[in-house]
Amino acid sequence: MADNFKVTIDNITIEVPAGTTILQAARQIGGEVAPPTMCYYSKLEGSGGKCRTCLVEVSKGSEKDPRPMPKLVASCRTTVMDGMEVRSCTSERVRDARAGVTEFLLLNHPLDCPVCDQAGECHLQDLSYEHGREGTRTEFTRRTFEPEDIGPYIQLHMNRCILCYRCVYTAEQLTQQREHGVLDRGDHARISTCISKALTNDFIGNVIDVCPVGALTDKTFRFKNRVWFTKPVDAHRSCSNPQCCGEVRLWMRGEEVYRVTARKDEWGEVATASNGETGWICNECRFEKKQVSDWVIEGPTVVNRHSVISQGQYAGNVGTRPGQPTLIEAIMGRKPKYLLDIHEVSGVNPQDKEFSRIPGPAHSDDFDKK
Ligand code: SF4
Ligand code: FES
Repeated sequence: MADNFKVTIDNITIEVPAGTTILQAARQIGGEVAPPTMCYYSKLEGSGGKCRTCLVEVSKGSEKDPRPMPKLVASCRTTVMDGMEVRSCTSERVRDARAGVTEFLLLNHPLDCPVCDQAGECHLQDLSYEHGREGTRTEFTRRTFEPEDIGPYIQLHMNRCILCYRCVYTAEQLTQQREHGVLDRGDHARISTCISKALTNDFIGNVIDVCPVGALTDKTFRFKNRVWFTKPVDAHRSCSNPQCCGEVRLWMRGEEVYRVTARKDEWGEVATASNGETGWICNECRFEKKQVSDWVIEGPTVVNRHSVISQGQYAGNVGTRPGQPTLIEAIMGRKPKYLLDIHEVSGVNPQDKEFSRIPGPAHSDDFDKK
């Protein structure tokens, strides 16, 4: 058997090692050819095959058996064959199926983006803008759950969960013991812990980063700020936990660190760290180190997802190439001032109040009353 297979996706031919999935091959081509994914996560073993957003059309099975596959296939679970021809964004059937899957995922998902902490970096939001239909055809009541505190750092909003299982695999593969999972079956299925257990394992904070929607939120950041008002900055520290890479993204406003997350790659997954391992971070780095002095600042993040965060900030390698000037540089001929002191330009909150430090969400009492 040949070691490399030729596969053509949306009329672009590449050679990939045998055993590569269609999705991995499409990601090598990049851009719009790569199907959207809501459950697959390349860093988590066994992920994929749940959501069907990555469906593609196989118009030629292989060189030996050129018959097309009768149904659309999940690209994250289907490996390429030599001579295979695949249609992703060029297929009418695929576009229609993606719209249908998006509609299905939104059947129970609340449209609470204006108050959801994930807004601006939500994969379902991106999916519905890019592949969804304009309106909804359902008027049924959505299933609802009470928000659940699952430990000191994480809150679960089950209403928003799309049951992608990523958080379950993360807890299974990163922490010493998994204490949450999918309980019940069918439309009763939900993420929860058994007998309200607290999730305190060292690396459990990573479930927040892998969750594609706002179902798992960081309690130290919830309702503190909209993500597009914060400035992402890359930073590192030498963490005493040998499994933690210590390389993070600080989400700052002025001098305040509002949130600490792992760094993400262009597919919205936790990026590979400088030591070649996946850049998962420990709870201490994520939740306890909220002072600028805790970190060595490397510089502004290049936002490389096509997200609202990149609008008017830093250009990345989706849509633009690395090394290109940022929009502001190109238009105004000078570098943007990344770390502006918000108190200098905003009369909204008292100068001595640091919102990132108040326990829980900010209330009207915390703002200036004029
Ligand atoms: S809580 Fe988030 S990561 Fe976990 S299954 Fe639901 S959507 Fe997926
Ligand atoms: S990403 Fe392939 S089925 Fe979910």
